Amino acid sequence: RTEPLVLGIETSCDETGIGIVRGRTLLSNTIASSMDEHARYGGVVPEVAARAHLEALAPSIDAALAEAGVTLQDLDAVAVTSGPGLAGALMVGIGAAKALAVSLGTPLYAVNHLVGHIAADILDADAEPLEYPTVALLVSGGHTSLLLVRDLTSDVELLGETVDDAAGEAFDKVARLLGLPYPGGPEIDRAAATGDPKAIPFPRGLSRASDMAKHRYDFSFSGLKTAVARWTEQREAAGEEVPIADVAASFREAVVDVLVTKALAACADHGVPRLLLGGGVIANRRLRDVAAARAAAAGVALRIPPLSLCTDNGAMIAALAAELIMAGREPSHLAFGADSTLPV
Ligand code: KG4
Ligand code: ZN
Repeated sequence: RTEPLVLGIETSCDETGIGIVRGRTLLSNTIASSMDEHARYGGVVPEVAARAHLEALAPSIDAALAEAGVTLQDLDAVAVTSGPGLAGALMVGIGAAKALAVSLGTPLYAVNHLVGHIAADILDADAEPLEYPTVALLVSGGHTSLLLVRDLTSDVELLGETVDDAAGEAFDKVARLLGLPYPGGPEIDRAAATGDPKAIPFPRGLSRASDMAKHRYDFSFSGLKTAVARWTEQREAAGEEVPIADVAASFREAVVDVLVTKALAACADHGVPRLLLGGGVIANRRLRDVAAARAAAAGVALRIPPLSLCTDNGAMIAALAAELIMAGREPSHLAFGADSTLPV
């Protein structure tokens, strides 16, 4: 098997990610984020993200090539995220990828962002090779999805996803409500460190017996966000101080509990003793701890790639395309466009 040299472009949200891999080996992974520009709006602004991608792409490609020690002419293929994500942001990456592939005369692979998150695991040099089937839980500011992976290149099934806010989005919104800056995940994590996770019994979305028939693997975080808002408002109305640490810890516990419970239920239901985590929310300390403890108790092997591969990046996109090439799959036709709701 020859190992293709692939450059991957990721622009589905606010990270401009350029990654280069040779087969399953990571050569470079440069990430430029427009997070700071979105901070004053309290969330990602699509138009701002698209413009930032346009500015960051060329220098990022140069930096990734230099870091990998290769030139454009060395590339065997170009890969790009075609969805899901923000349409305008995706279009910028797709335009760049098509221009590169056409001018270099290389094949172009349009890949799915969520499957790319799973492919990130392949680049973890310290881990044993990924075995199938595996359950994957992907949690970021843009998505919260539970997938059953029987084969990375041909058989990925979406078991469930959020019906409203993504988990990271919930962290960002609750942080804002508590007067903490954006992005809220790390802030809540910090504030929660001294709080009591059992102080306030916040609701676990879509976890009642009546929800489980239809939404066993789905998530909902907007009710939780509203519950936090109502609880703090009542405190303030009564002239009492809001115990930020306890609210943060109790909120975080509610999110983590639901994520881990549903992911391990998927493992048990499908007889799958492996769980892979991905997405920027994996940075959450409590999520990592609870997932590790409960997976161990359930006899499930937990895999968490390094954080630089869990957040949005181009290397995972390149890695997925390399797998497709090695599996003998044909490249994409140039006519593809951005698909903000692309299914797996
Ligand atoms: O994957 P990512 O870098 O970008 C996308 O959303 O695509 O994830 C960013 C999200 C933000 O919503 C941020 O608040 C959340 O991940 N996040 C965290 C933590 N660090 C980042 N959420 C909870 N705990 C954290 N420590
Ligand atoms: Zn992502």
